[in-house]
Amino acid sequence: MKRAIYPGTFDPITLGHTDIIKRACKIFDEIIVAVAINREKKPMFDFEKRIELVKKATKEFKKVKVVGFEGLLVDLSDKLEANTIIRGLRAVSDFEYELQMGYANASLKKDLDTIYLMPSLNYAFISSSIVRAILTHDGDVGHLVPSAILNDLKA
Ligand code: PNS
Repeated sequence: MKRAIYPGTFDPITLGHTDIIKRACKIFDEIIVAVAINREKKPMFDFEKRIELVKKATKEFKKVKVVGFEGLLVDLSDKLEANTIIRGLRAVSDFEYELQMGYANASLKKDLDTIYLMPSLNYAFISSSIVRAILTHDGDVGHLVPSAILNDLKA
């Protein structure tokens, strides 16, 4: 069983995230989407809501499981017996942060690998922060997020 963890804050989940999940499904037998509590980031959507939105957005994906987590990703990887982390890379600007995080995780657990997947060019500009900014001003995010969660976001 090839199992991978796709961690993130998912505040909220976007079409960029689901594009990465679809790509990961082609490589792995099971993808565990792990929603971080991430109190430092002061998320717009609370922890339970972010988990609920990820579950709704990935309902059709047979290989996907969704969990919430607090604490270190390496501890979650021990608990879930998954030594591969998936992260999305959109642009060079993502690279420095991702490199640092990948090395930090590898320094804590040497057999942990991080695999970076690129979303389709159509989704390369999408980020949760862009979605939040548009939502704050009551703008339309229908082209940026999975349709299954659109009503929740409007509410
Ligand atoms: O979607 P994000 O905000 O880029 O996701 C970041 C996340 C949640 C993957 C990262 O902050 C994380 O792994 N948090 C758990 C705490 C941890 O393990 N930190 C050490 C690695 S820097």
